[in-house]
Amino acid sequence: MYILSGTASKSIAKDLSKLIKVPLLKTELKRFPDKELYVRILDNIKGKDITIVQTTYPDENIIELFLLLNAVKEAKAKKITTIIPYYGYARQDTMFKPGEAISAKALAELISLNSDKVITVDPHKEYILDFFKTKAYSVSAVPTIAEYLKTKKVDMILAPDKGALNSAKEASKIIGCDFDYMEKTRIDGKNVEIKPKNLDVKNKKVGIVDDIISTGGTMAKSINELKKQGAKKVFVSCTHGLFAGEAIKKLNSAGCDEIISTDTIENKFSKVKIAKALTNIIK
Ligand code: R5P
Repeated sequence: MYILSGTASKSIAKDLSKLIKVPLLKTELKRFPDKELYVRILDNIKGKDITIVQTTYPDENIIELFLLLNAVKEAKAKKITTIIPYYGYARQDTMFKPGEAISAKALAELISLNSDKVITVDPHKEYILDFFKTKAYSVSAVPTIAEYLKTKKVDMILAPDKGALNSAKEASKIIGCDFDYMEKTRIDGKNVEIKPKNLDVKNKKVGIVDDIISTGGTMAKSINELKKQGAKKVFVSCTHGLFAGEAIKKLNSAGCDEIISTDTIENKFSKVKIAKALTNIIK
């Protein structure tokens, strides 16, 4: 087996290569003067099993994934496993209004063309896996995030909405603390409303868990509520840290004590490494 690292997921590919003792393929990637991408695999991979690791965010990494998949296919690899640490475009998973594209499905169908197996981490909704026309599996980052939050000695785990409730339950079980949740209503892509609710957080350290932090609106509203109710410290954690626009500023202004994300999207808050959680499913 060989591991092929895409530009977006170098750290995970490197960690995996070390953990499962499989070499990384040598590649040549460059841009033409008009910025189109050129991809070449430098090793001979005919008849080999190849695991490609590439997050589909931002858009340029999607094109790169398609070219890597094509290069591996054309080089006559035996089996192609595609690991998508963060499956971008997953949130549009249905036709909310007539005429809309279902981006989660569109991307899944294209990736399936050259993949024998797909693995992703905490997809926005589990049923997205059914959009792939090949075997597709997901891995949870929650246990690894929970281990990190345990080192912060949190007294409680909070889900910022019902969608994150199962993750909060799972994390609290690992840490051995209480959990609770808030009720969120999304107004639009940038704005959310959190229903006031009495939480038992006075003088407590609280860890919030969610799959994605995008604009930071959900987390900022949750932090505000927790601090208003007397929480001593608030740690916000997510699997996929998009941190769009002013997200970090918003979190800091709300009084966040620490921002934590995994490395499914590599950023300065990627304190939790996901490679280990991926190893079992790859084998
Ligand atoms: C929504 O269902 C997700 O789980 C996240 O809560 C959401 O994507 C976070 O978005 P934002 O950071 O923009 O509030």
